[in-house]
Amino acid sequence: MDVIPIMRPWLGAEEQLAVADALASGWIAQGPRVAAFEASVCAALGAAHAVATTSCTTALHLALHALGVGRGDEVVVPSLSFIATANAPRYVGARPVFADVDLQTQNLTPETVECALSPATRAVVVVHQAGMPADVEAIEAVCGPRGVDVIEDGACAIGSTYRGRPVGGGKLVALSFHPRKLLTTGEGGMLLTPDAGLARRLRRLREHGMAVSAHERHERSTVLLEEYVELGFNFRMTDLQAAVGLAQLPKLDAMIAERRRLAEGYRTALADVPGLVLPGDPPHGTTNYQSFVVRLEDDLRVDRDAVMQQLLDQGIATRRGIMAAHLEAACTGLPAPALPVTERLTRRTLILPLFHAMTEDQLERVADALTEAVALRARRMEGDRC
Ligand SMILES: Cc1ncc(COP(=O)(O)O)c(C=O)c1O
Repeated sequence: MDVIPIMRPWLGAEEQLAVADALASGWIAQGPRVAAFEASVCAALGAAHAVATTSCTTALHLALHALGVGRGDEVVVPSLSFIATANAPRYVGARPVFADVDLQTQNLTPETVECALSPATRAVVVVHQAGMPADVEAIEAVCGPRGVDVIEDGACAIGSTYRGRPVGGGKLVALSFHPRKLLTTGEGGMLLTPDAGLARRLRRLREHGMAVSAHERHERSTVLLEEYVELGFNFRMTDLQAAVGLAQLPKLDAMIAERRRLAEGYRTALADVPGLVLPGDPPHGTTNYQSFVVRLEDDLRVDRDAVMQQLLDQGIATRRGIMAAHLEAACTGLPAPALPVTERLTRRTLILPLFHAMTEDQLERVADALTEAVALRARRMEGDRC
């Protein structure tokens, strides 16, 4: 039986040729293709400066380090996120403080952030969860007066929009290019910022704190000796990865349009299933539907994991909804205030397959199977109760 996957990256001959060209050039570490990829992402998203990294995780680590966040500081993060969001503050010695999220958008709100702020708060990491844009300006209005920096974790949000502009125009925005995201480089990440000085420092920090890059020295006809002006990291993307990214970028608009078209298909097909809550655009922006996350209402007597198993038995891959970091052993000992919405969401959500090559038949198969699973299980559980 052919399994309908949760995601399939949009890769083809363009990416193969681009990698072959990079290999033939003889320069495969960070170099001209990384610089060209950074410039192209800036052009596509309307950002001023881009600094490519090995992943979104290292981008978040670098961002916190560059802002001077460290021991004794607190960083407010949603627990409802991939664990990298909560890990990043820990890498710089700071303490993540979990804040709750909104039930519909799954994102932090000014109110949930405000509850988590303390005199020790240095930064807030606002996630655009599953591509759903968060209301960053409203959160900045709470943080700015207190001198708290806002970093955007836009791992999933390339191509989503916020107040009419692509996500990426904020003060410091991290992206991911992992294959579960729309645009992929295999692994990879990027920081976007309007601040030229900060971008310069981020470039230096990602390359061992070196004052000149390896490629710059290679290009010179005169001897240029590098200096190491501060403690840095090796968070360099390779030119092989950037070559893939450069071939992917021209497809970004089509990726978004196709995902939104398929998502509309789900929204129509599942609109009348009682007890099922579907994602949609928030008032302040549009989502790229990096993940199509559906929620089972609490009073729907259906077990989420059983629904996932029933779909898998029919050759349909799903994933649990977004994890809650504070429930994981890796976060034992971290302060976890009451997070009722986070806990509801992580227990009661699942992610449906969505990829550019998905056919109408596949979409219908998923929608029918989910409708059937929800109705059947609800009936069975109702029977159990009698
Ligand atoms: C919200 C969020 N932040 C960070 C990451 C980490 O991204 P990467 O795998 O590029 O390190 C992910 C990955 O899924 C994510 O969903």
